[in-house]
Amino acid sequence: MCGIVGYAGERTNEDVVDVLLDGLSRLEYRGYDSAGLAVANSSISVVKRRGELSALEEAVPADDLEGFAGIGHTRWSTHGPPTDANAHPHTDCDGTVAVVHNGIIENYQPLRDELEAEGHEFDSETDTEVVPHLIERALDRGDDVETAFRRTIDRLEGSYAVAAVCADRETVYAARQQSPLVLGVGDDGYFLASDVPAFLEYTDEVVYLEDGQFASIRSSGVEITDESGAIVDVPVETVDWDPEDAGKSGYDHYMLKEIHEQPRAIRKCLRGRPRALEGTVSIDELDDVPRPERVHLVACGTSYHAALYGARLFRERGIPATAALASEYAVDAYPVDDGTLVVGVTQSGETADTMRALRDAGGRGARTLAVTNVVGSSAARECDHVLYIRAGPEISVAATKTFTSQQVALAMLSSALADARSREFVEALRALPDRLQSVLDDSRAREIADEYVDADAYFFVGRGYAAPVAREGALKMKEISYRYAEGFPAGEFKHGPLALITDRTPVFAVINREANAEKMLGNVKEVASRGAPVIAVTDAPEAVGHHADHVLRVPDTHWRFTPILANVQLQLVAYWVANRLGRSIDKPRNLAKSVTVE
Ligand code: F6R
Repeated sequence: MCGIVGYAGERTNEDVVDVLLDGLSRLEYRGYDSAGLAVANSSISVVKRRGELSALEEAVPADDLEGFAGIGHTRWSTHGPPTDANAHPHTDCDGTVAVVHNGIIENYQPLRDELEAEGHEFDSETDTEVVPHLIERALDRGDDVETAFRRTIDRLEGSYAVAAVCADRETVYAARQQSPLVLGVGDDGYFLASDVPAFLEYTDEVVYLEDGQFASIRSSGVEITDESGAIVDVPVETVDWDPEDAGKSGYDHYMLKEIHEQPRAIRKCLRGRPRALEGTVSIDELDDVPRPERVHLVACGTSYHAALYGARLFRERGIPATAALASEYAVDAYPVDDGTLVVGVTQSGETADTMRALRDAGGRGARTLAVTNVVGSSAARECDHVLYIRAGPEISVAATKTFTSQQVALAMLSSALADARSREFVEALRALPDRLQSVLDDSRAREIADEYVDADAYFFVGRGYAAPVAREGALKMKEISYRYAEGFPAGEFKHGPLALITDRTPVFAVINREANAEKMLGNVKEVASRGAPVIAVTDAPEAVGHHADHVLRVPDTHWRFTPILANVQLQLVAYWVANRLGRSIDKPRNLAKSVTVE
């Protein structure tokens, strides 16, 4: 999804351009198809290019792009294809105002008709371009820049984060409505971005803007105002992300680095929460959440797989629970009341479908809780409660460590809300980071990937707690290798997919000694007898015996956690297949990290 950066401060001239380019490169993970920047001086200089950030870097003139405040943007096309003209920033007729925008302006067409009727000329097909023209019109009518910006934002309907610069002003103007925007408070200036990693190398002091707030940043300081124009006093928070977390630390890809960070991520997720002696889990920040009568988990993609896993845990603890795809949740009209807890599982905390489902349920009287990784995200701010998964920044588009941390967080959440007591469960939770480390230290996933890199399709199956992980294994494979993959509960094979089985369709079967192992072996025999290579991902290699062609070992743990560990093997298989195929692993085609449109 689009990324915004901005800077105003003591740095001048080409330094401003460097700050913007650095910031954009750190937002690349969000997914984009064009990029651009604008710096303000006595005039505005704009450079924008379709394609990779390197195309923009090459297009930036070496020495004559001077400015004291600037904005930058990576665009993920919605209105109009990825072209130089559609890339942001967009300008007014005179080129004295430049604007970048993330989100969708729903009423852009009538606004554009209105402006064109008045003689404004448009250069792009975007919804964004109405913004600089609206500012221009307000300036022509005599408004000062601040008022013109505010008046413009008042006209917009939809979701947006907007930043603008104007000739002769050392200021970046910004506003947000249902789209992320965060300010960074540095020693020599102020930063603006869609996400903290954009400026983390300069500062870890941040201010999260709220919906409806306006900010103007300049070297002398930041001013934040509400819809009425009154100054608001906002807290400056310190993020505990290490800038090194946002680098590759010697790994070829962020995805591989993040897979290897999982023991540390779940150690952080667990910190202070399991109580070994009592066999309970206690989540201080959720102390005031009563035991719900029912739980609805809403999520998309990988997070939905974590939600499926979590729903099962709640049900086993005696709390009725369902997991729903957020985009379908409203359509299916799930009834809610004040005994319903609606849990939004979203690593970014910004996914539009999930936010819509949470707002809808909250509006109908449900209590809402966000399980998210991003402090200050929309989900964290808008839900009644928040449980942070503490995975640290995840840059690769394909979610790995956040999925694992979501599963662990939901395991703890279900125990805490159900007041469950099991020393065995809690001890196994605490031992998970070490178990996960042993999967990483001793995985044969790369060999398997080498052997089956040319397969026609990949199937992933499991039962019970392993079924969501089978779905996740397939999702990971398709998104980064671009190969056909399907994941489903193993019992479904004979109801259709078996027709696709050949000796060129490897089947990854997650087999848990203490859960449905016999039935899984039955499914394995079904596919093996039709020629499919079988890779058992299991804690019970002895039980699988000669029925599988290969085994990916999963260490002993509580049986409910076996799939969490099995999933790490599947992440590695997908990574190595994609690596052998030379895919763009961290930024797969057509995908974005944070999906802020419905
Ligand atoms: C896949 C992936 C996506 C996200 C989905 C929801 O690797 O990352 O399927 O899980 O877009 O995103 P969040 O969790 O940010 O709501």
